[in-house]
Amino acid sequence: MTEDLVLPAPRDAAPEGEPLLEVSGLTKHFPVKGGFPIRRTIGAVQAVDGIDLTVHVGESFGLVGESGCGKSTTGRLITRLLEPTAGKISYRGQDITHAGRKDLAPIRSEIQMIFQDPYSSLNPRQTVGKIISGPMEINDINPEGGREKRVRELLEIVGLNPEHYNRFPHEFSGGQRQRIGVARALALEPKLIVADEPVSALDVSIQAQVVNLLQEVQKELGIAFLFIAHDLAVVRHFSHRVAVMYLGKIIEVGDRASIYARPRHPYTHALLSAVPEVSLSEAEDAGPRERIRLAGDVPSPIAPPSGCRFRTRCWKAQDVCATEEPPLVQLSGNREGHLTACHFPEEPTIEARDEDIVMDPALAALEEDAVDGD
Ligand SMILES: Nc1ncnc2c1ncn2[C@@H]1O[C@H](COP(=O)(O)OP(=O)(O)OP(=O)(O)O)[C@@H](O)[C@H]1O
Ligand code: SF4
Ligand SMILES: [Mg+2]
Repeated sequence: MTEDLVLPAPRDAAPEGEPLLEVSGLTKHFPVKGGFPIRRTIGAVQAVDGIDLTVHVGESFGLVGESGCGKSTTGRLITRLLEPTAGKISYRGQDITHAGRKDLAPIRSEIQMIFQDPYSSLNPRQTVGKIISGPMEINDINPEGGREKRVRELLEIVGLNPEHYNRFPHEFSGGQRQRIGVARALALEPKLIVADEPVSALDVSIQAQVVNLLQEVQKELGIAFLFIAHDLAVVRHFSHRVAVMYLGKIIEVGDRASIYARPRHPYTHALLSAVPEVSLSEAEDAGPRERIRLAGDVPSPIAPPSGCRFRTRCWKAQDVCATEEPPLVQLSGNREGHLTACHFPEEPTIEARDEDIVMDPALAALEEDAVDGD
């Protein structure tokens, strides 16, 4: 999807901020019910399974992984739309893990969410003015000059015509609707925005514009972002730091340059090999990119593999990978804060491999047939 994506230059180092959001051991297991005639809990979807992460003031943090690995669940836990099964969430030093409505009230406005689908996340029966001023009403916020004036300012900030205050969502394109979603998220002057795949539903030609807008907002207003994506190309240009998730776990995390130029986890290598070449700064340009084909499906989060959860798709797996879960640690030679969970990490390089790694023999045969047939 990123072929035509023209993105802004990679960003500078993270601002030296205080921790804003601190998450430790965060876990969400959804019960699976079954049985007849009495339904009882027979298992659990281990959607998020003990993750640690910190987002600093004004920092942009990218969270990446394949479909179903628990990204949205993580976002919903952090915004307190879901109740965690275990773990701790602190916001500005305050434990909000199980905070009730009243305790959350002062914080609610500071943490906002932008959703993936700009079609279903806006009420079709409300005008743009009403949609954007809604959060101000709910939180009883009366900006100087009135709410309407503020909404018009916000429309301008997100690149929409303030005159369109009275229009309805259907009168806007997908990209414009996502801008409305951004304006609504900005209405309460948040300190943290959780953006859950905010551009995946948009046309490729529009994606870069919206990423640009978010990046400007992030920089100009100093808002911290948790930017969720399954595409490493998008996150690369937006994030100071990046965490890679697999089946409910963070398997690698580090600052942007370190993750993209010196990945150590086989899965990160695989994800990066799917990222098309984008213009890189010289220091990062590592020449031809390896290609790794990740074959096979992601295992079910109801019964994830023992030990390392990636082992069923990993070309380096050995016996110990099935019996011991690799801890998320800093490997020797890696930059501070670059953590990897793997018993047999890759060399810190993204140079071309001799041949593609294709793990599924059936897939390899199919490819050969295709070539032969040419
Ligand atoms: N309310 C729920 N009840 C049961 N299982 C759920 C619920 N919400 C999510 N899950 C399961 O939890 C796992 C993680 O889902 P989640 O939506 O967090 O993944 P994701 O990384 O956001 O995926 P995608 O890229 O498709 O959006 C999936 O297996 C999903 O089916
Ligand atoms: S721990 Fe083993 S199975 Fe897991 S990624 Fe590393 S080598 Fe592969
Ligand atoms: Mg999701």
